[in-house]
Amino acid sequence: MEFLRDKRRAQRFYRHLSKIYDTWIRDLFWNERMRAYGLEMAGLHAGMEVLDVGCGTGFLSEGILEVTPSVWGLDITPEQLQRARRKLSIPLVRGDAENLPFHAERFDAVLSSGSIEYWPDPVQALREMRRVLRPGGVAMVGGPTRPRDRLYRLLADNMMLFYDEAEALEMFDQAGFRDVRVGYTGPAWKPDLAIVTRGVKA
Ligand SMILES: C[S@@+](CC[C@H](N)C(=O)[O-])C[C@H]1O[C@@H](n2cnc3c(N)ncnc32)[C@H](O)[C@@H]1O
Repeated sequence: MEFLRDKRRAQRFYRHLSKIYDTWIRDLFWNERMRAYGLEMAGLHAGMEVLDVGCGTGFLSEGILEVTPSVWGLDITPEQLQRARRKLSIPLVRGDAENLPFHAERFDAVLSSGSIEYWPDPVQALREMRRVLRPGGVAMVGGPTRPRDRLYRLLADNMMLFYDEAEALEMFDQAGFRDVRVGYTGPAWKPDLAIVTRGVKA
């Protein structure tokens, strides 16, 4: 198992990273243009109720709020949620992506960016996302693309989940999603850094 795909380690990692996440880290890996791409794939519209899984300090939630006022954020790390609370007046819940504390068919869309790579069982988390979606609801997940360079891939694969299109399709299929589509986005230094997958609950 990759080092950071462990819930305790991921929380410890983010307890420390939280202090510099917004100022030094986020823009390198998930900037406003990439967020806009993910939101476009999700096809949100005003009035939708949306859950942001692994919301961190709230960057994706802020983007969702530009489309619809009804957004919930969920994260496993208290320090990340504290920072999100300073910026956003939305319900922010501590919880685990693999066991969402919401009843079935609660949301119109469930989105997540930069969190799937830490989940020990991503298919279980995607099943949870599907469970809390209303029929016809959409899930959008952005995560890191598997690197092509062999050395970088070896390092990456020992750290957390990096995946390609075939794996993305397989995970969404196993979780029961239909009409699954994959796209890529990234910062200037690596235009395909992030793989964005969206699927629909039939
Ligand atoms: C890169 S940060 C979040 C990025 C954020 N979505 C954004 O748009 O800036 C990844 C987040 O995933 C959270 N996380 C990791 N494992 C999780 C899990 N099992 N359930 C919920 N959140 C988790 C971490 O605490 C961290 O805040």
